[in-house]
Amino acid sequence: MTITTHQAFKTLIHGEWNESQSKATIEINSPHKNDLIGSVPSLSQEELNDSIEKTVAAQDQWAQTSLQERAEILNKWADILEERQEDIGETIMQEVAKKKSSAVSEVSRTADYIRHTVEDALRIHGEVMRGDSFKGGSPSKIGMVEKEPLGTILAIGPFNYPVNLSASKVAPALMMGNSVIFKPATQGAISGIKMIEALIDAGLPKSLVTLATGRGSVIGDYLVQHPGVDMITFTGGTGTGRHIAQLSTMVPLVLELGGKDPAIVLNDADLDKAAEEIVAGAYSYSGQRCTAIKRVLVQDEVADQLVERITNKVKSLKVGMPEDNAVITPLINTKSADFVQSLIDDAKNQGASVLVGDKREDNLIYPTLLDHVTSDMKVAWEEPFGPVLPIIRISNENEAIELSNQSDYGLQASVFTKDTENAMKIADKLKVGSVQINAKTERGPDHFPFLGVKGSGLGVQGIRNSLLSVVRDKVKILNM
Ligand code: G3H
Repeated sequence: MTITTHQAFKTLIHGEWNESQSKATIEINSPHKNDLIGSVPSLSQEELNDSIEKTVAAQDQWAQTSLQERAEILNKWADILEERQEDIGETIMQEVAKKKSSAVSEVSRTADYIRHTVEDALRIHGEVMRGDSFKGGSPSKIGMVEKEPLGTILAIGPFNYPVNLSASKVAPALMMGNSVIFKPATQGAISGIKMIEALIDAGLPKSLVTLATGRGSVIGDYLVQHPGVDMITFTGGTGTGRHIAQLSTMVPLVLELGGKDPAIVLNDADLDKAAEEIVAGAYSYSGQRCTAIKRVLVQDEVADQLVERITNKVKSLKVGMPEDNAVITPLINTKSADFVQSLIDDAKNQGASVLVGDKREDNLIYPTLLDHVTSDMKVAWEEPFGPVLPIIRISNENEAIELSNQSDYGLQASVFTKDTENAMKIADKLKVGSVQINAKTERGPDHFPFLGVKGSGLGVQGIRNSLLSVVRDKVKILNM
């Protein structure tokens, strides 16, 4: 099926591939070449409302299909995504300037994610309980607890993984019998359309999804407050996450937000390994990952040795265009690049040493390594979402724990040490969702629980948890 005409993409509303009624579109340019990739419909609140009504109405029948029927469609979706991984990967690359190999592997990771979601969903069962396990309860009461879908899920995806982090919301929702309103990030909307196109080609009834392309400023708040929405799952910035939490009305929320993940390096760490993991963790996709390592807290005694190793690796990172598989590519937009540069400038002005980088060409920020960063510099606390890494020297592990926990964020942390028992004790004290011992911070493997505390999020993702986040208990009590 073809949904394109001269790169004017249609979107899925009112159960069909349509333009917007007003014919309004948003032009999507590539961040690195600024050339036009295509346009997507810019929907109005009114037309979304009509489409959402259809999507809400379609859910009931979908919930009555068997898990096996849903599994068949979703597994087919995974197969089609894999068949189209080159094409969809190319679109991701163009839309968000992610290096080609990572863009393609984002699509295959998504296919794996969907298949595992299907398998796990087939094994989610309710439970049966007798009334007499509570004091004074009666054995003649039998409670049967089943899982039922919440209804219609609003899934709002980010630009940095426009397919993977969107499918990881859409797949669990559909598998558990919900319908979906999917709002892709504007930069990433074409990738999102192609992802949904594959789902429809796999046999999903079209009314089950409303694909809400349009400006966040026009339709974002409207969607969040729409009475047809029964649950919201969002990945993006902490500011937007807080806004959604304030605006939403008595619906469950799953929010995957920003981070300021520290890599804590202790005196007894394997420094070669630590340097390798830190550089990969901090700079891949130019640091535009919520889970990127965003500060290094290293003990004074080994700081020089670690810094030397990190410096050498950062100098050899490939900088350039995503087509050439460069690790460091232009950032998503000028505003982001300006912000990253402002953090570098602030640190420099306050006495940080620039070991590598501090060079910019338009949105391309060269990988930057800052040493002797102190607590009064913004880069010690703010999330750059770009390729800049501050080194903060510390005198002991308690200071590392204290600095880690002073952050407004609490996504992940890495601890590098050969003393595993001590690493576990430190992990206990860190106020974050996950602690990686002797490895970089990262979300996968995708069936592990994934969560942030404080400003980093609400609720838990990871395959099993994402499935459970879109259902509620239904209890039937038999009184004999
Ligand atoms: O940007 C947020 C993502 O969840 C990070 O995922 O660790 O696989 O890059 P990742």
